[in-house]
Amino acid sequence: MRERLLAAEKTTSIEWRGDHLCLLDQRQLPLQVVWQRFDSAASVAQAIRAMVVRGAPAIGISAAYGVVLGLRERLNRGGDWRAALDEDFAILAGSRPTAVNLAWALGQMRERLARLKPGEDALAALEAQAVAIHQSDREANLAMAQFGVELIRKFNSAEQSFLTHCNTGALATGGFGTALGVIRAAHLDGLVERVYADETRPWLQGARLTAWELANESVPVVLNADAAAAHLMKTRSISWVVVGADRITANGDVANKIGTYQLAVLAMHHGVRFMVVAPSSSFDMAMETGDDIPLEERPAIELLELAGQRVAADVPVFNPVFDVTPADLIDAIVTEKGVVERPTADKLARLMSRSRLH
Ligand code: MRU
Repeated sequence: MRERLLAAEKTTSIEWRGDHLCLLDQRQLPLQVVWQRFDSAASVAQAIRAMVVRGAPAIGISAAYGVVLGLRERLNRGGDWRAALDEDFAILAGSRPTAVNLAWALGQMRERLARLKPGEDALAALEAQAVAIHQSDREANLAMAQFGVELIRKFNSAEQSFLTHCNTGALATGGFGTALGVIRAAHLDGLVERVYADETRPWLQGARLTAWELANESVPVVLNADAAAAHLMKTRSISWVVVGADRITANGDVANKIGTYQLAVLAMHHGVRFMVVAPSSSFDMAMETGDDIPLEERPAIELLELAGQRVAADVPVFNPVFDVTPADLIDAIVTEKGVVERPTADKLARLMSRSRLH
């Protein structure tokens, strides 16, 4: 399976070029494929805030490279580079609040910094750390894809239909995806009849990104309005809702793209299984429950306008872009360390204490 998955890996969205970072500008997809170049930590933080790059693992990886760019800049300027680099860490950490992968990746970079030996080349060490974060996410995607397919097969080894939300593919990660990685692998394994992609209002990650990624790989994909989900579950045979995560707390609550919670409620009502796929970098074991997760709210304009055209009446707007799905609505959480069915705090603590199985 690993070789088949690697051979199917086509899209990338993050490219490190040694002295600068290139990001595929996700705001312009699917109409244009445009890469942007970044040379500073501040510009990477701005790219994360503006959603040039988005998706929890991709945000973390980009921030790690942002630290390398920050260090290069600080070293060139001379003076107390450690104090100056702290400012870059702070700007990057503040770029988006919900995905814990950002804090996790910055924590890894800080830890590497703290371990520098006297005379060691700081730039080379931090660059190697960022590349390792990127590479380990790719490996995690491969492991999760295999675990996810095993889980699907455990219940049904025939072709079946899936519903997914937001974008969790190559555009959102360092590899070919979390939830979408499982779906891709299931397709290669002959388990996919159809993938329904929620359009994912208001930013349209499903319509613009997931539909594009799946269509590029000839995975049978059908786009539906978010509001069609209940009707879809009632009238079409859907085996699994498969989604990613921006943060999973110690008790198994999951923050993910707005609309995920209602899908979990609907899935429970209709007897559809609900799978969350996320690497251990998306876990926040220090946070007990999802009640404490900071949930980003984005500007009103995302609802008031469509493609730059005003479409809404002039009223106040509520635009939270993440919600929290309680653990008891989740059938399985798939990670690179293994799978937890019917997640509880104890099961997750045991899983997270394991080293990676691959
Ligand atoms: O606002 P976004 O596009 O960054 O939100 C992305 C999601 O909610 C994804 O489902 C999540 O980050 C998992 S990506 C592998």
